[in-house]
Amino acid sequence: MKQVYTIGDLVSREVHDAGAAKGARLAVIGHPIAHSASPPMHQAALDAAGIDARYIRLDIEPGQVGEAFARMRALGFIGCNVTVPHKLDAMAACDEVHPDAQALGAVNTIRFDEDATRGFNTDGPGFARAIEDDFHAPLASLKVAVVGAGGGAGQAIATQGCLSGIAKLVVVNRTVAKLGPLVARVRLLSPQTEIVALSFDDPSLADHCLSCDLIVNTSSVGLKSGDPPIVPVACLKKEHLVYDTIYQPAVTPLLAMANTLGCRTANGVSMLLNQGALAFQLWFPGTTPLPTMRVALGHLSRG
Ligand code: ATR
Repeated sequence: MKQVYTIGDLVSREVHDAGAAKGARLAVIGHPIAHSASPPMHQAALDAAGIDARYIRLDIEPGQVGEAFARMRALGFIGCNVTVPHKLDAMAACDEVHPDAQALGAVNTIRFDEDATRGFNTDGPGFARAIEDDFHAPLASLKVAVVGAGGGAGQAIATQGCLSGIAKLVVVNRTVAKLGPLVARVRLLSPQTEIVALSFDDPSLADHCLSCDLIVNTSSVGLKSGDPPIVPVACLKKEHLVYDTIYQPAVTPLLAMANTLGCRTANGVSMLLNQGALAFQLWFPGTTPLPTMRVALGHLSRG
Protein backbone atom coordinates (compact mmCIF):
# COMPACT_ATOMS: atom_id res chain seq x y z
CA MET A 1 0.00 0.00 0.00
CA LYS A 2 1.37 3.41 -0.96
CA GLN A 3 1.15 6.68 0.95
CA VAL A 4 0.67 8.57 -2.33
CA TYR A 5 -0.72 7.17 -5.59
CA THR A 6 -0.40 8.65 -9.09
CA ILE A 7 -2.43 8.50 -12.28
CA GLY A 8 -0.27 5.54 -13.33
CA ASP A 9 -1.80 3.52 -10.48
CA LEU A 10 -5.32 4.13 -11.81
CA VAL A 11 -5.21 1.29 -14.32
CA SER A 12 -6.92 -1.55 -12.48
CA ARG A 13 -8.20 -2.39 -9.02
CA GLU A 14 -5.47 -5.03 -8.73
CA VAL A 15 -2.84 -2.32 -9.09
CA HIS A 16 -4.21 0.41 -6.81
CA ASP A 17 -5.54 -2.05 -4.23
CA ALA A 18 -2.40 -4.20 -4.05
CA GLY A 19 -1.75 -5.07 -0.42
CA ALA A 20 -4.84 -3.25 0.88
CA ALA A 21 -7.68 -4.79 2.88
CA LYS A 22 -10.25 -2.35 1.52
CA GLY A 23 -10.72 -1.10 -2.04
CA ALA A 24 -9.89 2.52 -2.89
CA ARG A 25 -13.22 4.22 -3.62
CA LEU A 26 -12.44 7.81 -2.59
CA ALA A 27 -9.42 10.10 -2.91
CA VAL A 28 -8.05 13.57 -2.53
CA ILE A 29 -6.32 14.88 -5.64
CA GLY A 30 -3.74 17.66 -5.53
CA HIS A 31 -0.14 18.49 -6.38
CA PRO A 32 1.66 18.16 -4.01
CA ILE A 33 -0.59 16.00 -1.81
CA ALA A 34 1.66 14.09 0.60
CA HIS A 35 0.75 16.27 3.59
CA SER A 36 -3.04 16.34 3.14
CA ALA A 37 -4.94 15.77 6.39
CA SER A 38 -8.02 14.57 4.50
CA PRO A 39 -7.25 10.81 4.27
CA PRO A 40 -7.11 10.05 8.02
CA MET A 41 -10.17 12.24 8.63
CA HIS A 42 -12.30 10.57 5.94
CA GLN A 43 -11.00 7.07 6.65
CA ALA A 44 -12.04 7.38 10.29
CA ALA A 45 -15.55 8.40 9.21
CA LEU A 46 -15.75 5.55 6.65
CA ASP A 47 -14.66 3.00 9.25
CA ALA A 48 -17.06 4.36 11.88
CA ALA A 49 -19.97 4.21 9.42
CA GLY A 50 -19.06 0.63 8.45
CA ILE A 51 -18.46 1.59 4.81
CA ASP A 52 -16.11 -0.85 3.10
CA ALA A 53 -13.91 1.68 1.29
CA ARG A 54 -10.45 3.22 1.42
CA TYR A 55 -9.67 6.95 0.93
CA ILE A 56 -6.32 7.55 -0.81
CA ARG A 57 -3.98 10.41 -1.70
CA LEU A 58 -3.58 10.94 -5.45
CA ASP A 59 -0.82 13.18 -6.78
CA ILE A 60 -2.19 14.46 -10.07
CA GLU A 61 -0.08 16.71 -12.29
CA PRO A 62 -1.62 19.89 -13.69
CA GLY A 63 -3.44 19.08 -16.94
CA GLN A 64 -4.34 15.50 -15.88
CA VAL A 65 -7.54 16.19 -13.95
CA GLY A 66 -9.96 15.15 -16.73
CA GLU A 67 -8.05 11.93 -17.33
CA ALA A 68 -7.89 11.21 -13.59
CA PHE A 69 -11.68 11.63 -13.32
CA ALA A 70 -12.26 9.30 -16.27
CA ARG A 71 -10.03 6.62 -14.74
CA MET A 72 -11.53 6.94 -11.25
CA ARG A 73 -15.03 6.69 -12.68
CA ALA A 74 -14.08 3.61 -14.71
CA LEU A 75 -12.61 1.99 -11.58
CA GLY A 76 -15.79 2.54 -9.57
CA PHE A 77 -14.72 5.44 -7.34
CA ILE A 78 -17.57 7.13 -5.46
CA GLY A 79 -15.98 10.58 -5.58
CA CYS A 80 -13.00 12.66 -4.60
CA ASN A 81 -11.90 15.84 -2.94
CA VAL A 82 -9.94 18.35 -4.94
CA THR A 83 -7.26 20.63 -3.59
CA VAL A 84 -4.60 23.07 -4.84
CA PRO A 85 -3.96 23.57 -7.77
CA HIS A 86 -6.87 21.70 -9.35
CA LYS A 87 -10.06 23.40 -8.11
CA LEU A 88 -10.67 25.27 -11.39
CA ASP A 89 -9.66 22.43 -13.74
CA ALA A 90 -11.93 20.12 -11.74
CA MET A 91 -14.87 22.45 -12.28
CA ALA A 92 -14.24 22.38 -16.04
CA ALA A 93 -14.02 18.56 -15.99
CA CYS A 94 -17.48 18.08 -14.41
CA ASP A 95 -20.67 17.37 -16.34
CA GLU A 96 -22.68 19.38 -13.82
CA VAL A 97 -21.61 21.97 -11.25
CA HIS A 98 -23.82 22.93 -8.30
CA PRO A 99 -24.95 26.60 -8.55
CA ASP A 100 -23.22 27.50 -5.25
CA ALA A 101 -19.95 26.04 -6.53
CA GLN A 102 -20.43 28.06 -9.71
CA ALA A 103 -20.87 31.19 -7.60
CA LEU A 104 -17.80 30.26 -5.54
CA GLY A 105 -15.84 29.80 -8.78
CA ALA A 106 -14.28 26.44 -7.85
CA VAL A 107 -15.14 22.88 -6.84
CA ASN A 108 -13.54 20.88 -4.02
CA THR A 109 -15.82 17.82 -4.00
CA ILE A 110 -16.69 15.47 -6.85
CA ARG A 111 -19.34 12.77 -6.97
CA PHE A 112 -19.15 10.17 -9.70
CA ASP A 113 -22.86 9.49 -10.12
CA GLU A 114 -23.99 6.89 -12.63
CA ASP A 115 -25.36 9.48 -15.04
CA ALA A 116 -22.87 12.32 -14.50
CA THR A 117 -19.74 13.62 -12.77
CA ARG A 118 -21.04 16.30 -10.39
CA GLY A 119 -19.02 19.07 -8.75
CA PHE A 120 -19.70 20.82 -5.43
CA ASN A 121 -17.93 23.29 -3.19
CA THR A 122 -17.95 22.66 0.56
CA ASP A 123 -15.19 25.19 1.37
CA GLY A 124 -17.62 28.13 1.50
CA PRO A 125 -20.35 26.45 3.60
CA GLY A 126 -17.63 24.72 5.65
CA PHE A 127 -16.26 28.13 6.54
CA ALA A 128 -19.72 29.42 7.50
CA ARG A 129 -20.20 26.43 9.82
CA ALA A 130 -16.71 26.88 11.26
CA ILE A 131 -17.54 30.46 12.23
CA GLU A 132 -20.77 29.32 13.91
CA ASP A 133 -18.92 26.53 15.76
CA ASP A 134 -16.00 28.66 16.88
CA PHE A 135 -17.68 31.98 17.60
CA HIS A 136 -21.37 31.03 17.98
CA ALA A 137 -22.30 33.75 15.50
CA PRO A 138 -24.01 33.30 12.13
CA LEU A 139 -21.70 34.46 9.34
CA ALA A 140 -24.65 36.44 7.92
CA SER A 141 -24.66 38.65 11.03
CA LEU A 142 -21.03 39.76 10.69
CA LYS A 143 -19.12 42.43 8.80
CA VAL A 144 -16.12 40.63 7.39
CA ALA A 145 -12.58 41.59 6.32
CA VAL A 146 -10.86 38.95 4.16
CA VAL A 147 -7.14 39.59 4.17
CA GLY A 148 -4.99 38.06 1.43
CA ALA A 149 -8.05 37.50 -0.71
CA GLY A 150 -6.21 36.80 -3.98
CA GLY A 151 -6.02 33.00 -3.68
CA GLY A 152 -8.59 30.22 -3.71
CA ALA A 153 -9.45 30.33 -0.01
CA GLY A 154 -9.98 34.09 -0.09
CA GLN A 155 -12.29 33.87 -3.09
CA ALA A 156 -14.36 31.11 -1.47
CA ILE A 157 -14.70 32.92 1.86
CA ALA A 158 -15.44 36.35 0.38
CA THR A 159 -18.03 34.78 -1.92
CA GLN A 160 -19.61 32.76 0.89
CA GLY A 161 -19.93 35.98 2.89
CA CYS A 162 -21.89 37.55 0.03
CA LEU A 163 -24.00 34.40 -0.51
CA SER A 164 -24.85 34.74 3.20
CA GLY A 165 -25.81 38.39 2.65
CA ILE A 166 -23.31 40.05 5.01
CA ALA A 167 -23.66 43.82 5.42
CA LYS A 168 -20.01 44.65 4.72
CA LEU A 169 -17.12 42.88 2.98
CA VAL A 170 -13.59 44.26 2.98
CA VAL A 171 -11.15 42.42 0.72
CA VAL A 172 -7.46 43.19 1.06
CA ASN A 173 -4.67 41.93 -1.18
CA ARG A 174 -1.01 42.65 -1.91
CA THR A 175 -1.79 42.51 -5.65
CA VAL A 176 -4.86 44.71 -5.63
CA ALA A 177 -5.56 44.11 -9.35
CA LYS A 178 -6.50 40.49 -8.49
CA LEU A 179 -9.48 41.77 -6.51
CA GLY A 180 -11.30 43.32 -9.51
CA PRO A 181 -12.92 40.15 -10.90
CA LEU A 182 -13.80 38.93 -7.38
CA VAL A 183 -15.48 42.22 -6.48
CA ALA A 184 -17.42 42.29 -9.76
CA ARG A 185 -18.70 38.75 -9.13
CA VAL A 186 -19.71 39.19 -5.51
CA ARG A 187 -21.42 42.53 -6.16
CA LEU A 188 -23.87 40.68 -8.42
CA LEU A 189 -24.47 38.03 -5.76
CA SER A 190 -25.27 40.50 -3.01
CA PRO A 191 -26.08 44.04 -4.18
CA GLN A 192 -26.91 45.13 -0.60
CA THR A 193 -23.42 44.26 0.72
CA GLU A 194 -21.04 47.22 1.06
CA ILE A 195 -17.86 46.02 -0.65
CA VAL A 196 -14.46 47.66 -0.21
CA ALA A 197 -11.28 46.48 -1.98
CA LEU A 198 -7.94 47.67 -0.62
CA SER A 199 -4.20 47.16 -0.83
CA PHE A 200 -2.17 46.80 2.36
CA ASP A 201 -0.79 50.33 2.04
CA ASP A 202 -4.18 52.02 1.68
CA PRO A 203 -4.43 54.69 4.39
CA SER A 204 -8.00 53.60 5.21
CA LEU A 205 -7.02 49.94 5.86
CA ALA A 206 -7.15 50.20 9.66
CA ASP A 207 -10.46 52.11 9.70
CA HIS A 208 -12.13 49.58 7.42
CA CYS A 209 -10.82 46.63 9.46
CA LEU A 210 -11.95 48.28 12.69
CA SER A 211 -15.45 48.69 11.24
CA CYS A 212 -15.69 44.90 10.76
CA ASP A 213 -16.56 42.18 13.27
CA LEU A 214 -14.54 39.32 11.77
CA ILE A 215 -11.00 39.41 10.36
CA VAL A 216 -9.97 36.37 8.28
CA ASN A 217 -6.49 35.58 7.00
CA THR A 218 -6.81 33.66 3.75
CA SER A 219 -3.20 34.21 2.63
CA SER A 220 -0.22 31.94 3.07
CA VAL A 221 1.41 34.53 5.36
CA GLY A 222 1.89 32.80 8.71
CA LEU A 223 2.77 29.37 7.35
CA LYS A 224 6.52 29.97 7.54
CA SER A 225 8.31 30.66 10.80
CA GLY A 226 9.39 34.30 10.90
CA ASP A 227 6.36 35.49 8.89
CA PRO A 228 4.87 38.74 10.24
CA PRO A 229 1.18 39.13 11.16
CA ILE A 230 -0.70 39.73 7.90
CA VAL A 231 -2.07 43.08 9.17
CA PRO A 232 -0.58 45.72 11.48
CA VAL A 233 -1.78 45.84 15.08
CA ALA A 234 -3.69 49.07 14.34
CA CYS A 235 -6.15 46.97 12.32
CA LEU A 236 -7.28 44.95 15.35
CA LYS A 237 -9.43 45.68 18.40
CA LYS A 238 -10.31 43.40 21.27
CA GLU A 239 -13.93 43.00 20.11
CA HIS A 240 -12.75 41.38 16.85
CA LEU A 241 -13.30 37.74 16.02
CA VAL A 242 -10.10 36.67 14.26
CA TYR A 243 -9.92 33.56 12.09
CA ASP A 244 -6.84 32.18 10.34
CA THR A 245 -7.39 29.60 7.59
CA ILE A 246 -3.89 28.28 8.37
CA TYR A 247 -3.83 25.46 10.96
CA GLN A 248 -0.15 24.56 10.99
CA PRO A 249 1.24 26.32 12.96
CA ALA A 250 -1.83 26.29 15.21
CA VAL A 251 -1.14 29.83 16.43
CA THR A 252 -0.02 32.05 13.57
CA PRO A 253 1.54 35.48 14.15
CA LEU A 254 -1.88 37.05 13.41
CA LEU A 255 -3.61 34.86 16.01
CA ALA A 256 -0.83 35.48 18.54
CA MET A 257 -1.23 39.25 18.12
CA ALA A 258 -5.03 38.95 18.35
CA ASN A 259 -4.74 36.80 21.51
CA THR A 260 -2.57 39.47 23.11
CA LEU A 261 -5.30 42.05 22.46
CA GLY A 262 -7.95 39.77 23.99
CA CYS A 263 -9.74 38.92 20.71
CA ARG A 264 -11.59 35.62 20.26
CA THR A 265 -9.55 33.58 17.79
CA ALA A 266 -9.71 30.31 15.87
CA ASN A 267 -7.59 28.55 13.26
CA GLY A 268 -8.39 26.62 10.09
CA VAL A 269 -8.92 23.22 11.73
CA SER A 270 -12.66 23.94 12.01
CA MET A 271 -12.90 24.78 8.30
CA LEU A 272 -10.95 21.63 7.38
CA LEU A 273 -13.31 19.60 9.54
CA ASN A 274 -16.56 21.14 8.35
CA GLN A 275 -15.73 21.12 4.64
CA GLY A 276 -14.74 17.46 5.06
CA ALA A 277 -17.95 16.51 6.87
CA LEU A 278 -20.08 18.24 4.23
CA ALA A 279 -18.20 16.43 1.44
CA PHE A 280 -18.71 13.08 3.19
CA GLN A 281 -22.44 13.78 3.46
CA LEU A 282 -22.60 14.49 -0.29
CA TRP A 283 -21.22 10.99 -0.89
CA PHE A 284 -23.16 9.33 1.94
CA PRO A 285 -26.38 11.25 2.67
CA GLY A 286 -27.84 10.73 6.12
CA THR A 287 -24.49 10.08 7.83
CA THR A 288 -23.09 12.18 10.71
CA PRO A 289 -19.32 12.04 10.22
CA LEU A 290 -18.37 15.20 12.09
CA PRO A 291 -17.78 13.81 15.61
CA THR A 292 -15.55 11.00 14.31
CA MET A 293 -13.66 13.39 12.04
CA ARG A 294 -13.12 15.76 14.95
CA VAL A 295 -11.48 12.97 16.94
CA ALA A 296 -9.37 11.96 13.93
CA LEU A 297 -8.03 15.52 13.68
CA GLY A 298 -7.39 15.63 17.43
CA HIS A 299 -3.63 15.85 16.85
CA LEU A 300 -4.17 19.25 15.22
CA SER A 301 -4.60 21.93 17.84
CA ARG A 302 -7.54 24.29 17.38
CA GLY A 303 -5.42 27.35 18.12
P1 ATR B 1 -4.03 29.48 -3.62
O1 ATR B 1 -2.92 28.62 -4.13
O2 ATR B 1 -4.71 28.98 -2.40
O3 ATR B 1 -4.99 29.94 -4.67
P2 ATR B 1 -2.12 31.66 -3.62
O4 ATR B 1 -2.26 31.98 -5.06
O5 ATR B 1 -0.85 31.08 -3.16
O6 ATR B 1 -3.31 30.76 -3.06
O7 ATR B 1 -2.39 33.02 -2.85
C1 ATR B 1 -2.59 33.12 -1.51
C2 ATR B 1 -2.77 34.55 -1.06
O8 ATR B 1 -1.64 34.84 -0.23
C3 ATR B 1 -2.79 35.63 -2.16
O9 ATR B 1 -3.77 36.57 -1.80
C4 ATR B 1 -1.39 36.23 -2.06
O10 ATR B 1 -1.30 37.59 -2.44
P3 ATR B 1 -1.08 38.00 -4.01
O11 ATR B 1 -2.39 37.77 -4.67
O12 ATR B 1 -0.69 39.42 -3.94
O13 ATR B 1 0.01 37.10 -4.50
C5 ATR B 1 -1.17 36.14 -0.57
N1 ATR B 1 0.24 36.27 -0.21
C6 ATR B 1 1.21 35.36 -0.36
N2 ATR B 1 2.38 35.82 0.12
C7 ATR B 1 2.14 37.08 0.59
C8 ATR B 1 2.93 38.08 1.24
N3 ATR B 1 4.23 37.89 1.50
N4 ATR B 1 2.33 39.23 1.59
C9 ATR B 1 1.01 39.43 1.36
N5 ATR B 1 0.20 38.52 0.76
C10 ATR B 1 0.76 37.37 0.38
